[in-house]
Amino acid sequence: MALSFSLTATDLAKTRTPLLAVPVFKGPKLGPGAKALDGALGGSLKSFLQEAGFEGKLGETLPIPAGKALAADAVVLVGLGEEGKVTAEVLRKAAAAVARRASKATEVTTTLLDVVGGDMSEADAAQAVAEGSVLGAYQYLDMKGAKAGNGAQRSKLRRVKLHGGGDAARRGLAHGETVARGVALARDLVNGPPKKVTPSELARVARGLKGVRTTVWDRARLEQEHLGGLLGVAAGSDEPPRLIRMTYTPPRPRGTVAIVGKGITFDSGGLSLKPTGFIETMKYDMAGAAAVIGVMSIVAELQPAVKVIGIVPTTENMPSGKATKLGDVLTIRNGTTVEVLNTDAEGRLVLADGLSLAVEAQPDAIVDLATLTGACHVALGDNYAGLMTTNDDWAGQVQAAAERTGELVWPLPLPDDYRRELDSDIADLKNVSANRYGGAITAGLFLKEFVGDVPWAHIDIAGPAWRGNGAAGYLSKGGTGFGVRLLSELLLGFRKPRKR
Ligand code: BES
Ligand code: MN
Ligand code: ZN
Repeated sequence: MALSFSLTATDLAKTRTPLLAVPVFKGPKLGPGAKALDGALGGSLKSFLQEAGFEGKLGETLPIPAGKALAADAVVLVGLGEEGKVTAEVLRKAAAAVARRASKATEVTTTLLDVVGGDMSEADAAQAVAEGSVLGAYQYLDMKGAKAGNGAQRSKLRRVKLHGGGDAARRGLAHGETVARGVALARDLVNGPPKKVTPSELARVARGLKGVRTTVWDRARLEQEHLGGLLGVAAGSDEPPRLIRMTYTPPRPRGTVAIVGKGITFDSGGLSLKPTGFIETMKYDMAGAAAVIGVMSIVAELQPAVKVIGIVPTTENMPSGKATKLGDVLTIRNGTTVEVLNTDAEGRLVLADGLSLAVEAQPDAIVDLATLTGACHVALGDNYAGLMTTNDDWAGQVQAAAERTGELVWPLPLPDDYRRELDSDIADLKNVSANRYGGAITAGLFLKEFVGDVPWAHIDIAGPAWRGNGAAGYLSKGGTGFGVRLLSELLLGFRKPRKR
């Protein structure tokens, strides 16, 4: 359920609210709001915190008695970590902790904005609080039966009121709410079971987006258009493949960006079948597509001054009597032939078609997001996506957007002398390297064959797109929606990259 945000200027002690959430720094050290509380409670707060063992660590929460002096029904303290180190990421995490803690109330009022200063603007702070609140409160409940106590699990939180703040905060809240709505859509698509979230379902969702023009190619059209990579991966599946294209055109575009997302709605590995233990989560192999659809769902509200073309090649990857065999040769949209020696390296095959189409649109830059390799997850862990590029200016813009949003990326090289590991005896390329090391890089080098000289950045999100180990901060267990916030920032700050 959606959250709505508003501002309040009422004196803290007089604020009527079911729940008041007040930040405390590490120490614990009382911030402005907590000092006011302490006054109203007769100066007992500090000793109470000591007794309760509350340290003010980021995300820590502690309910305290509201007392008669306060108009609030209940009060909860939330840790902010070190004073003087309050970044947007800190506010997102603290707001998420508040939103989770407030799941039994319909409304929470918080003084999180009161601690903002330094080089963070009021608008950025408010945006962070809105994002953290929505994403912290996010739940995927579509598949929970009413009988199973669904009602009790569902967060009741509907309204977040922020103490202090003016017009800049109002703008920031609206922006943060928009972005978080895009992230939530991406999470829903990733969390949905693969029987539900099929290529046709992604196409249906894309067609319903406001402010973008969507076209969808079905199997017959894919054949006419020679999307041999996508068709080759789809060969074993009864579920029909789709190529989805979404276009946003602002009044006076400063350029064009193509964003391409891997949309494998279930990756069994195909005939190179994955073993048990590696296959259970493979509904999330469309997280790149979900990020692209997520950002296209809000792009008309964000209004970046750049034309945006979202391209999603989408299919299942299944074994069957009709499936692509090892040794088969596929012809990609741009004429490149590929010998398939492992049907589990399918993402690069569908992306080859997607990137070829992106290049045909003659954009100023391309970025792709893909749950492409387990190797990237191994190399960088859960929190970092791999960033590979042909253009350091463009990759720098990606890196900057990543740092502003906390959707982190780390560079990996694309060395020319690894390219020969993709040489095929009979075709232009083979889809896997014979060398078992450097798998994220050889996958990146494969994609590079399809981007020509358009500035391009490849983001391998196999690690951060999915949280298997439970919620953390504003990330819920399961799909994280990684990439929606990064892409939003990237589009809003877009400059044509210098060619090189
Ligand atoms: N979708 C997988 C990559 C993946 C693995 C994403 C684990 C998230 C978690 C991809 O299609 C794949 O199977 N890649 C292979 C490549 C190999 C066959 C060269 C891999 O990573 O093992
Ligand atoms: Mn695979
Ligand atoms: Zn895959």
